[in-house]
Amino acid sequence: MYDMPIGVGQDLLDADLGIAVPAQPTQLVKRGMSVMPDLAAFQHPRFARTWEKLSGESERRGTAEHRDRTLAGLTGRVLEVGAGNGTNFPHYPTTVTEVIAVEPEDRLRALAEQAAATAPVPVRVVAAHADELPYEDNSFDAVIATLVLCSVPDQHHALTELRRVLKSDGELRFFEHVRSDNPIYRLVQQAITPVWSLAGGGCHPNRDTTTAISNAGFEITDIDRFAYRPLKFMPAQAHILGHAHKSP
Ligand SMILES: C[S@@+](CC[C@H](N)C(=O)[O-])C[C@H]1O[C@@H](n2cnc3c(N)ncnc32)[C@H](O)[C@@H]1O
Repeated sequence: MYDMPIGVGQDLLDADLGIAVPAQPTQLVKRGMSVMPDLAAFQHPRFARTWEKLSGESERRGTAEHRDRTLAGLTGRVLEVGAGNGTNFPHYPTTVTEVIAVEPEDRLRALAEQAAATAPVPVRVVAAHADELPYEDNSFDAVIATLVLCSVPDQHHALTELRRVLKSDGELRFFEHVRSDNPIYRLVQQAITPVWSLAGGGCHPNRDTTTAISNAGFEITDIDRFAYRPLKFMPAQAHILGHAHKSP
């Protein structure tokens, strides 16, 4: 089991945007030994630039409202996985005492650190990934996954980690795009997944995330399924938004 992360590596100045990109990921301490999480596989600088450019349009087309719904009423200590450029941060209610925001991609993490500075609640951005969370069992009141379970390499593994760090009476809040119910569109999603994933930082449009959440030991207590177009050039995509608790 890891203890809390300590320290951040020396920053490099990114000439393109003038943002500070950490040269080294956050150091972790594992049973007294210094351990660096291996984040090389999560670096997608081209996708990160695209996501930063497009996320404004997506927020205006409805994503901001879905973030509000996802985070409404949260209290206590919260873990957000795959925080990206920190777009959720302004949406946290002030009843949240602390957000630990895990983000493995260097460029997006640097942007998240900037967003954390103006968040309405204390946010600490950490270099780590969902498959090996550097936190104790049962240590968070809520765990947040928005638009990230499409991208984790192994959904079951990541969800099992989220379940591990969640308190027994805690909540998983999710907002994710998922595979279509329409058999023809589903085939299209299946066909485009390899190319989509390459361009989209590992994103899989064909995942049945609802089933994955249940299979990882969660009971879904509230779920809304709906379609919308986060970007003008995209067709409408099925999304799920809801709450889940640890199954007994
Ligand atoms: C499409 S972006 C969404 C960002 C943010 N969650 C949001 O709602 O805007 C997907 C994010 O998931 C991150 N990611 C991918 N694999 C991950 C993993 N195994 N653990 C944590 N984050 C991961 C990516 O680096 C990226 O920031």
